[in-house]
Amino acid sequence: MIRPLKLKNLLLPSNIWYAPLAGCSDFPFRRLSARHGKPGLMFTEMCKMDALVKKESSTFRFLDYDPSMHPIGAQLCGSDPKYAGQAAKMVEDLGFDVVDLNCGCPVDKVTKDGSGSALLKTLDRLYAILLTLTQSVSIPVTVKIRVGWDEKHLIHTQMVELAEAAGVSAITIHGRTREQAYRGLSNRDLIEEACKKAKSIHVIGNGDIFDSGSAKDLLDRGCSGVLVARGTMGKPWIHQQIVHELETSTPFLVSTELVRSTLLEHYDEIVSYETPRKALLSLRRVACWYLRDLSGAKPIRDLVNRSQSLEEVRQHLVNFDFNHLYIGQEQNLAMQEQ
Ligand SMILES: Cc1cc2nc3c(=O)[nH]c(=O)nc-3n(C[C@H](O)[C@H](O)[C@H](O)COP(=O)(O)O)c2cc1C
Repeated sequence: MIRPLKLKNLLLPSNIWYAPLAGCSDFPFRRLSARHGKPGLMFTEMCKMDALVKKESSTFRFLDYDPSMHPIGAQLCGSDPKYAGQAAKMVEDLGFDVVDLNCGCPVDKVTKDGSGSALLKTLDRLYAILLTLTQSVSIPVTVKIRVGWDEKHLIHTQMVELAEAAGVSAITIHGRTREQAYRGLSNRDLIEEACKKAKSIHVIGNGDIFDSGSAKDLLDRGCSGVLVARGTMGKPWIHQQIVHELETSTPFLVSTELVRSTLLEHYDEIVSYETPRKALLSLRRVACWYLRDLSGAKPIRDLVNRSQSLEEVRQHLVNFDFNHLYIGQEQNLAMQEQ
């Protein structure tokens, strides 16, 4: 079930991948992911093709990576085939292993110029972009879609054929429509339909994968792999957890001490990457991810949120008694049984 995946000449060690997450899958996040049971493939945040081609300096920051993060994909966002090839070549020259096209972002700011999920309404244009990408680089090209713009316009099976025809190596399918945004559940039946359509392309299932059970369900339905998104936030070890649980059928136990020590590692990464002001804002957000599943964590969340300096945050994380917190009923019982 957990297995290596081949995309063209690239052999990925695992079929459990980490998603592009704007504002989250940044350099510090990816450093942590690489260190805690690295996924088969990880992605940068989305990066605008035109901004990259025009060499806007802020854009290059999205593409910061270090050797520990390989295999790593860069995700491009845009709707103009004119920029696609050049942007992909730049990504390849920067040393990325994979280039991915974003066809899922639902936000108006992105869709208004025809990018992100708006491409699901203009399949001719989308095909032209994919073809340009595959013809411009020798690294594998992947595409990430939603199942359609809305329920009346589902294009998941058509997209599998179209991506295959364009020479794309893998298609990631989030089982929600653009209209749904994040409401309701990701529709796994639709992802399964797409898997049945695929001849040569890998179908990677995405949506609501928060544990090994949900990953297993998508793999059982025929997906070559899965892409974990929100499930990675505050849980850089989730790849390790899914692999362990699927391979041994025993729970991967997360202690409150693991949560604290990993959050402190994340702290160090953020502090060495960002300016102090940005680091403080980033840390408040990141601390919430780590603390959200801990019962009794409100006091430490409040302390972090009220902290006025990075050192103050650090002191609270070091001094707070994490032994009084616990990680949900089930895990707690499993730990007592050990
Ligand atoms: C905060 C946030 C940022 C995201 N940024 C991106 C992005 O840059 N590119 C992309 O293709 N998808 C992005 N997504 C979508 C996720 O990659 C994923 O497809 C979606 O969250 C569904 O998976 P999940 O239910 O496991 O979270 C983002 C999602 C969230 C919540």
